[in-house]
Amino acid sequence: MSSDLDSLIDLDAIAQQELRRREFIAQAISVGQCWVAVDARDTSVLLGYGVLNDSFFEQAFIPLIVERDSARRRGVGSAIFHELESQCEAAKLFTSTNASNAPMRKLLGKLGFSPSGQIENLDEGDPELVFVKLRS
Ligand SMILES: CC(C)(COP(=O)(O)OP(=O)(O)OC[C@H]1O[C@@H](n2cnc3c(N)ncnc32)[C@H](O)[C@@H]1OP(=O)(O)O)[C@@H](O)C(=O)NCCC(=O)NCCS
Repeated sequence: MSSDLDSLIDLDAIAQQELRRREFIAQAISVGQCWVAVDARDTSVLLGYGVLNDSFFEQAFIPLIVERDSARRRGVGSAIFHELESQCEAAKLFTSTNASNAPMRKLLGKLGFSPSGQIENLDEGDPELVFVKLRS
């Protein structure tokens, strides 16, 4: 587990700076809520990770998905979302992102997530936008 954590910190610039992010990832790994994407040519290389839990009003929720900088725009984020969706048994899957995060907003639109409200006062001047995917 510590080597998994080190590899995830290596691809996540925020985790390299913030203890809170490192603790969050460690906790997600320890309870089996963290999924990773690996390089098909060398499966020891992690390209990104995503977390699925029920921390949003006890609803299925993706709080975090992060790709290595060099792996972006190659479908890795979409692949992780699809894996998290396949792991999710709930009828509604929520996620959220800052209003300023254009790549994530585009990705969510492409994957069929719909706006489901917003939360002010988390990050100053940058509301947290909530999205949901209603699943059949
Ligand atoms: C958001 C993030 C996860 C997207 O991952 P990704 O692997 O690059 O996404 P994909 O390659 O699957 O992109 C799928 C679609 O999303 C949209 N998209 C992704 N990145 C984009 C960008 N920088 N600009 C515009 N559209 C973008 C596009 O529609 C893209 O399809 P296309 O490449 O065919 O045009 C990645 O940019 C990232 O890790 N960002 C930093 C962490 C973060 O902000 N996480 C989200 C909040 S928790």
